[in-house]
Amino acid sequence: MAAKRDLLSMLDLESDLVGILELAASIKNRTKAGEPYEPLRGKSLAMVFEKASTRTRVSFEVGMTQLGGHALFLSPNDLQIGRGETIADTARVLSRYVDGIMYRAFKNENMRELARHATVPVINGLDDKEHPCQIVTDLFTVLERKKAVKGLTLAYVGDGNNVCNSLFLGCAIAGMNMAAGVPKGYEPDGHLLASARRIAKTSGAELRIVHDPFAAVKGADVVYTDVWVSMGMEKEKEEREKVFLPYQVNEKLVRAAKDDAVVLHCLPAHRGLEITDEVIDGPQSVVFDQAENRLHAQKAILVRLLAGV
Ligand code: CP
Ligand code: NVA
Repeated sequence: MAAKRDLLSMLDLESDLVGILELAASIKNRTKAGEPYEPLRGKSLAMVFEKASTRTRVSFEVGMTQLGGHALFLSPNDLQIGRGETIADTARVLSRYVDGIMYRAFKNENMRELARHATVPVINGLDDKEHPCQIVTDLFTVLERKKAVKGLTLAYVGDGNNVCNSLFLGCAIAGMNMAAGVPKGYEPDGHLLASARRIAKTSGAELRIVHDPFAAVKGADVVYTDVWVSMGMEKEKEEREKVFLPYQVNEKLVRAAKDDAVVLHCLPAHRGLEITDEVIDGPQSVVFDQAENRLHAQKAILVRLLAGV
């Protein structure tokens, strides 16, 4: 039997990102044409959510249905994990029933533990270090809008969080330049950034971290932001809202990027904090196309990992 393939980090897509993006485009075209495509007929996906979700939950569940399969929503309160059953045993048991596990975890260690003991593919639906499904979607959205990713420049403004870490890896793999404008003390993960820099040496992507948001967006084709207070960081809310105020993506900041720059946000957005109404509802925003694309991009990930398409 071939080894199972997980998607825990963007690093797991180092040699297959282009392929996944092409597959996502063809799956989206088929869906839009109303053509049935059900390579996951009879297959089941367990979805374990330790944190809230709108997009990830709905897009995975609908994606599995459209591909002919079935998804089960499981929260730790419903599972015996909530009463002390180990992650390892949960992984072993779920693997006897389902064909894949999507996991949204507080800790990357738990994500890795589940994947180590599961004998079916595990997909990271966000943890404290990464959000790979989001970044595949984001690159797909840029490719649709700009007809390229390589050689373009993405500016990420805000917190050096899970989304920022995965964006650095995704841009490095895709050969897209990236500048992060983050406050001092809120830089992305050092290990993941080192991996991104290693990959960028080959792909030619230029990766920068600056502390001035205007320096980050200068010359950018894409302006990206995310929440200032990620799930699990609620205790730091007051402090963070003060520190991040100069990093708000507002009209003045967007004007400093290229005239035809597009604005992305993984959502949920806190309007009036990291992004203003004018920007998110403005002509350069593509955030709702981006949200839709979670469905198409994840269907590509699902068929690749669960059916080897
Ligand atoms: N962007 C994203 O992952 O959204 P949800 O938290 O709603 O799944
Ligand atoms: N950085 C955010 C992303 C939400 C989709 C969080 O982890 O809460």
